[in-house]
Amino acid sequence: MRVLFVCLGNICRSPTAEGVLRHQLTEAGLADVIEVASAGTGDWHVGKQPDSRTRRAAQLRGYDLSSQRAQQVRVEHFNEYDLILAMDKSNLANLQSLRPGHATAELDLFLRRYDGAIDEVPDPYYGGEQGFEQVLDLIEAACRGLVVELKGRL
Ligand code: 4NP
Repeated sequence: MRVLFVCLGNICRSPTAEGVLRHQLTEAGLADVIEVASAGTGDWHVGKQPDSRTRRAAQLRGYDLSSQRAQQVRVEHFNEYDLILAMDKSNLANLQSLRPGHATAELDLFLRRYDGAIDEVPDPYYGGEQGFEQVLDLIEAACRGLVVELKGRL
């Protein structure tokens, strides 16, 4: 199984989701069977580490994002991953227009699938520290649902 998280810049929300899911999969003993990655629809930050505010907030909760580097979504990803999860509706719309006709990956809005109350992870880039905490809260909760689903699929 391969899961790809997608946001706009791949330096805030999707790297957080990648780190949190990998951590939860390790705790569940599934890190070797489920591969996790992240990407952005935009190319501005390609090759860069996650945003320093993202790394700091994640580190305080025990997630180390320092080895991640931003990449842009590519058409091949639609066949390399089983599940592609978008952080907001704009990311989802961009992915839908990029998606080739022969794509095998399932595409969905991350929170709509695993949370319900809020269906988008708000972009924290231009806001304050509280935004990064909210991103972590939403992603930690949704990843718990995702791990349950992934266990059921194995
Ligand atoms: P992300 O946040 O999509 O969660 O990584 C953003 C990062 C960078 C920009 C926008 C959103 N930007 O405009 O550079």
